[in-house]
Amino acid sequence: MVRMLSKRKRPSREVETLKEQLKVAEGTIDDRTIMRLSKLMTKGVISKLDFLIAKGKEADVYVADSGPSVDGDFVVLKVFRVETTNFFNRSDYMAGDERFPALKKNIYWIVNQWCKKEYGNLKLAQEAGVHAPKPYAFNGNVLAMEFIGNDTYAKQLKFEKLQNPEEVLKTIVADVKKLYSVGVVHCDLSEYNILVKDGVPYMIDFGQAVLHHPRSEFFLKRDLDNISSFFNKNYGMSVKSDDLYNFVTAQPQA
Ligand SMILES: Nc1ncnc2c1ncn2[C@@H]1O[C@H](COP(=O)(O)OP(=O)(O)OP(=O)(O)O)[C@@H](O)[C@H]1O
Ligand SMILES: [Mg+2]
Repeated sequence: MVRMLSKRKRPSREVETLKEQLKVAEGTIDDRTIMRLSKLMTKGVISKLDFLIAKGKEADVYVADSGPSVDGDFVVLKVFRVETTNFFNRSDYMAGDERFPALKKNIYWIVNQWCKKEYGNLKLAQEAGVHAPKPYAFNGNVLAMEFIGNDTYAKQLKFEKLQNPEEVLKTIVADVKKLYSVGVVHCDLSEYNILVKDGVPYMIDFGQAVLHHPRSEFFLKRDLDNISSFFNKNYGMSVKSDDLYNFVTAQPQA
């Protein structure tokens, strides 16, 4: 069920303590995470936790009311779980990335680094002019970012009926190129990690994205295979992944 987010329609809450709000949020959050959330409140990033919007493979995603230091009404909080962290899955996207010259096997270290990595990737995406959520802050395993949506959160590309599929594909590929030009490859790009707001695609879920990685070409090809297959299958297009790859990797003319 899609929940409406309009502040007007949301019932007012009497209980204002963070722990009570967390019960409302229907998630299970440990004390360490509560401390981190309260720091984000002190910094003015969030003012109140609203509810859980998604339980992903690696994180619980919440909507919060924004605090005074952030534009817009809402903030998305991605809370990375420690218990589901698989070091060997993650190490593929850390080892080789220039930001991780050495890896530790401590699970808390890995989760915090992963969260910091998603924040850093979102920052690079913003600087490159890519359609992606603005990152606001991170603290340990908690990442705060721009809410992509209007009255309700934006749907994944998979579940949206596009009126303008050619235009959406063009924007996605242009954004992949912008990322590539600053050395970043998303590495998990698919119809599930793209949200569509007002007919415009926004990439999300940048935790695994790599910077100047020796396997960048392989990851880029895989991302473009996913995107071309999706549009060919769902919108009757005949896009060749190799053509997208050549476009993305072409150097600008001197
Ligand atoms: N900035 C955002 N604005 C609106 N909704 C968001 C945002 N970020 C995440 N979501 C919602 O939360 C879901 C899960 O987010 P994300 O893909 O980043 O987490 P994940 O743990 O990697 O999930 P999964 O395992 O499903 O890939 C998204 O599919 C989307 O519905
Ligand atoms: Mg995802």
